[in-house]
Amino acid sequence: MELSAANHRIALNDGNSIPVIGLGTYSPPRLTSKGTCAKAVEAAIDAGYQHIDGAYIYYNEHEVGEAIREKIKEGKVQRENIFYCGKLWATNLIPEMVHPSLERTLKVLQLDYVDLYIIEVPMAFKALEACKDAGLVKSLGVSNFNRRQLELILNKPGLKYKPVINQVECHPYFTQPKLLKFCQQHDIVLVAYSPLGTSRDPMWVNLSSPPLLKDTFLNSLGKKYNKTTAQIALRFNIQRGVVVIPKSFNPERIRENFQIFDFSLTDEEMEKIEALNKNVRYVQLLM
Ligand code: A2P
Repeated sequence: MELSAANHRIALNDGNSIPVIGLGTYSPPRLTSKGTCAKAVEAAIDAGYQHIDGAYIYYNEHEVGEAIREKIKEGKVQRENIFYCGKLWATNLIPEMVHPSLERTLKVLQLDYVDLYIIEVPMAFKALEACKDAGLVKSLGVSNFNRRQLELILNKPGLKYKPVINQVECHPYFTQPKLLKFCQQHDIVLVAYSPLGTSRDPMWVNLSSPPLLKDTFLNSLGKKYNKTTAQIALRFNIQRGVVVIPKSFNPERIRENFQIFDFSLTDEEMEKIEALNKNVRYVQLLM
C-alpha cells in the first residue's frame, strides 16, 4: 500500500493497525515548562499525526491526554483515529501491579483505553493479556527486546497474544538489520525511537558518536529531494516498514517531520543509507 499523509497505517499481527509516524513525547521534565507537551501534541494532531507515543514515567502523560481530548472535543479527530502507545515501567512488572499501572495511565489520560501498551521485560506479559481481555488496551507490545528475549516470549507456553511491536533505537547509523529481519519473519512491527539520533543530551547519550543529522550522504539526499536531513532519515525507515516516533515540541519541526509522504527514495539510495550503519547506539540508559 502507498503511504500517504491521510492513510499511513500498517497492519499489526492482531488485526489492529499502527500509523507509521508518531510523535515522541519524552522531554526532560525539569527542563520543560508546563503545557509545552500539550501544545506539541495539539500541533501534531493539527499537522495530521494520528499516533502519539508516551509513558506515565515521562511525567507529562496528563498533558498528552488533555491535548487528545481537546482535539476530539474540537471535532478535529475521533478517538478511533488516534493511536496512543503507553508504557509499563520496569518497576511495575509484578503481575499484581500491571493492571493498576494501566488503570493509572488511563486515569491520567482520561481515556477509556490505550491502543498499545508495551513493556521492557517479558515477566508481566500474562497480566497484560488480562488487560487486553478487559478491553483496556487494544494491542500489546514490547520495547528494547533483543532477538533472544523475543524468542523467549514467543516460545512461552500458553502465550495468548504475541507482541505486535518491538520498540527499539533505530536510525541510519543503527539500522538493526538482523532484529528487523527477525521481527518481520514473526510479523512483529519494529518501532524506531530516536529515529533522528536523539537530542544528544550528555546525561544519557553517548556523544562520542557522530551526529546523525550531520551525515554528508543524508545531507546530499536532502538537497536532491528538497527535503531536510531529518526527513530523509525518517523516510528511510518508513519506506522499509519501520514506524518512526521522532520527538519534537517545536511546531515547525513537528510539521516538518510529517512531510515525508510526498517523495520516495530509490532502491539504490535505500541500500546506500542501509550501508551507513555503524551500530551506533546513542541511547545508553538501558543497555
Ligand atoms: P525539538 O523538540 O526541539 O524539536 P528523540 O530522540 O527523543 O526522538 O528526540 C529527537 C530530538 O531531535 C529532539 O531533541 C528534537 O528537539 C530534535 N528534532 C526533532 N525533529 C527535528 C528535526 N526535524 N530537525 C532537527 N532536530 C529535530
